[in-house]
Amino acid sequence: MPHKEDGHLDIIELHPTFAAEVRGVNFEDIQPSVFDEIHAAITKYGVVKFPKTGLDDTGHVKFSASFGELDDVSPYTKLGKKHRLAFEQLFDVSNLLEDGSVAPVESHRSAMNKGNSLFHVDSSFNPRRAGYSLLRAHQLPPKGTGGATQYADMRTAFEELPEDLKKELLEKDYVACHSLYHSRKTASPGSLPGINPEDHFMSRHRLVQRTNTPVVRQRTTLICTIRSRG
Ligand SMILES: [Fe+2]
Repeated sequence: MPHKEDGHLDIIELHPTFAAEVRGVNFEDIQPSVFDEIHAAITKYGVVKFPKTGLDDTGHVKFSASFGELDDVSPYTKLGKKHRLAFEQLFDVSNLLEDGSVAPVESHRSAMNKGNSLFHVDSSFNPRRAGYSLLRAHQLPPKGTGGATQYADMRTAFEELPEDLKKELLEKDYVACHSLYHSRKTASPGSLPGINPEDHFMSRHRLVQRTNTPVVRQRTTLICTIRSRG
């Protein structure tokens, strides 16, 4: 139901356990008190949607920086990968090549992209995974043609696990190994021939993590990059 949370913004809950639409943000001039409300909404709902932001690439990067230090694509460009976008802090999650043309379906780029369609936590294959991801819709595909971004409520997922499993996960405090190659090979088994994910770096993250909500909640990180647990 639409409601105000003691502030300037309209919050419309989109799902019984998480996700909300936030209206009333002037993205050209976000005052600290408004940012605090945005941050509180993201913390509470996990996923927040802002309709018609009017943001361009510059505004997108600036708003993202309000949440903390930004990740960037420099590890990939240092390896020789060309970046199509003007800002290194914008990740090009598209099927476009450097010249703007569509990557052929049978190309290495398309094969690697398939990993993005598996459920994942952004950058969990890095020692510092992403705390927040800000996606901006440039152009939406026609309704009914797919392309939707889907989200899972991992806090509620954990809370609804059988009690004995929850107890075990909390007591054992498992650590999982995350591998970019593992997710890419899972989504596209024919790609990366000759590469064994276990021969390459994996980052380690606790399987169950505390969230920063005012009421302590845990969430699971059971996602596609997990190769093994250590
Ligand atoms: Fe992602």
